Amino acid sequence: MSILQVNNLAKHFGGLVAVKDLTLSIKPGEIRGLIGPNGCGKTTTMNMLAGLYKPTRGDVRYHGKSIVKLPPHIRTAQGIMRTFQIPKLFSEMTVEENMMVPALATSTEKTPEFIEALENKATEKLTFCKLDHVSHLLAKQLSGGQRMLLQIARGLMVEGLELFLMDEPFAGINQVIKETIMDAIMEMNDNQGITFLIVSHEMSSVRRLCQTVCVMHEGSLIAEGSMTEVANDPLVIEAYLGGQNAASDS
Ligand SMILES: Nc1ncnc2c1ncn2[C@@H]1O[C@H](COP(=O)(O)OP(=O)(O)OP(=O)(O)O)[C@@H](O)[C@H]1O
Ligand SMILES: [Mg+2]
Repeated sequence: MSILQVNNLAKHFGGLVAVKDLTLSIKPGEIRGLIGPNGCGKTTTMNMLAGLYKPTRGDVRYHGKSIVKLPPHIRTAQGIMRTFQIPKLFSEMTVEENMMVPALATSTEKTPEFIEALENKATEKLTFCKLDHVSHLLAKQLSGGQRMLLQIARGLMVEGLELFLMDEPFAGINQVIKETIMDAIMEMNDNQGITFLIVSHEMSSVRRLCQTVCVMHEGSLIAEGSMTEVANDPLVIEAYLGGQNAASDS
């Protein structure tokens, strides 16, 4: 059974149709790519999957059950986490505090043992994401790449994480951190079986990570297949500016 099934999903903003009739299905353990030109509806789709936007139409099913009416925090409690294209962090808090806040906010149990266990988990996840050396800096002091890593590390604090939605995790990020993020994704996928849906313009990263890629254009799904298959699809070539085959770069 699919871990995530999207049926005829649509989002209208007034007269603008950002997403129309989107249907796709992701199997447990996949690393699925979602690509397409600027403004084609990728972030809007992610926002509907995470519960931030209410769809105009359609359904989102997680492990076969509709989650379309559930708010973001309940989806997170069920194991769905996301990162934002523009990192959303508590900029005046330290990296370590940023790691702790979601768990502390949602837990009623605040015993010293619980907090110590949480601190240990935060240290472990920060080390995994190669952020342990900056754990006492304020989030606003981090580079863009480190902020993206912190969003990912924070996702790993979620108990029972099963589906990680990532919006442009590689945008504007240097090669070293990009490699760290890719390694983290592959390791989480291999060792914990976490399923990923990754929106990215970084075709080389998508090619390395994703066996299957979905391509959106003007709110619709226009192709699905391996990176090589979609890069040679005439509809995809046409969708990218001037018919230039952006999907085959690097
Ligand atoms: N909150 C909103 N209100 C009105 N229009 C919106 C809103 N969010 C997105 N849109 C519009 O919906 C369309 C799809 O935007 P979206 O951000 O989903 O694209 P995208 O594929 O993520 O683009 P990019 O690659 O540039 O990040 C765009 O025309 C955008 O202007
Ligand atoms: Mg976007």
